[in-house]
Amino acid sequence: MNYKIQHYFLLTLCLLILSCKKKSSSSNPFDDWSVSQRGPVMPDVPIDPNTIQGLHKNIFKPTCANSGCHDGNFEPDFRSIESSYNSLINRLATNTDPQNTQFVKRVVPGDAANSMLLHRLSTFIPGSQGIMPLSLEPNSDWISKKNDYIENIKTWINNGAKDEFGNSALSYDFPPQIAGMIAFADGSSTPLPHSGYNPVEIPSGTNSIKIMIAFSDDKTAVNQFGNTTLNYSLNPNNYAGSESAMSIESTPFNAKGFNGANVDYWQSITLTVSTLGAAANDVLWLRSQTTDNVNLPVYIPSVPSSFNLKKYCAIRIK
Ligand code: HEM
Repeated sequence: MNYKIQHYFLLTLCLLILSCKKKSSSSNPFDDWSVSQRGPVMPDVPIDPNTIQGLHKNIFKPTCANSGCHDGNFEPDFRSIESSYNSLINRLATNTDPQNTQFVKRVVPGDAANSMLLHRLSTFIPGSQGIMPLSLEPNSDWISKKNDYIENIKTWINNGAKDEFGNSALSYDFPPQIAGMIAFADGSSTPLPHSGYNPVEIPSGTNSIKIMIAFSDDKTAVNQFGNTTLNYSLNPNNYAGSESAMSIESTPFNAKGFNGANVDYWQSITLTVSTLGAAANDVLWLRSQTTDNVNLPVYIPSVPSSFNLKKYCAIRIK
């Protein structure tokens, strides 16, 4: 028996060795490669300084997106051309200027005179950290080129703040954004305090809460919005409950929004505390869904929204 097995084993081994044929020597393409064969070096294509690509190359990347600054930590996010564009165009400024209330949005396409971006490069806003840029990297040419760069930004905005493909932002219809959230207890006409990026504290013993949300949109009047609903959950990342319809008031309630400026609140809903399924001290996270009748309905806050915004859109039942 052993004898037979040994035979098979040897036979197999032979077959294996025979089948391992050494490939004819495969040519390494780099063996014959030489520097002289390199293709023409792509010359630096001159970039128009009045375009978002030029602004990103000359200003946003070298002078603003420094580590710890606009490098994704907070908005505007100047890391890429796209993040710069998306966090500037028609975006509500986080810090507004009480002495110059016309500056509400970071970039208003076609209107440099009312764009916060330029205002922050020239004016100190009380309560802010200062005139931008707050500090300079050794390789920044901001000081020597500041006036030219500010002119480039002005020209870009007044030319419609085009994106990298040359599309004017004026031709876009951006989805709605949130401008504020307030809550009233038991039919009161005064909203409960709501400071910073924190939940609204609902006093213990409150029976009903009226929630109002202020939206902003670049083209559609907020009281002309389509279906708007509210959902709430004890988990900010999971809204399993059913959406509840919000109504549009006949006249807006004007009060502070999240960036400190007064805004109009049109959409409202009244909730009964006992039906919310929240115990004392629970945080109830709120999420609205709305549409400007042009873009698809949007959730605000949405999953990728900053946690600060999620905290702002929350209530704590005391
Ligand atoms: C030319 C380059 C820069 C530009 C264009 C710029 C632009 C801006 C703008 C428009 C805002 C207001 C955002 C809002 O309120 O919505 C802002 C805020 C801010 N920036 Fe800059 N920035 C620049 C450089 C820097 C640098 C280098 C730093 C860090 C050293 C910095 C730190 C901040 C901080 C902490 C805030 C938030 C606090 C505040 O509003 O004062 N920025 N920046």
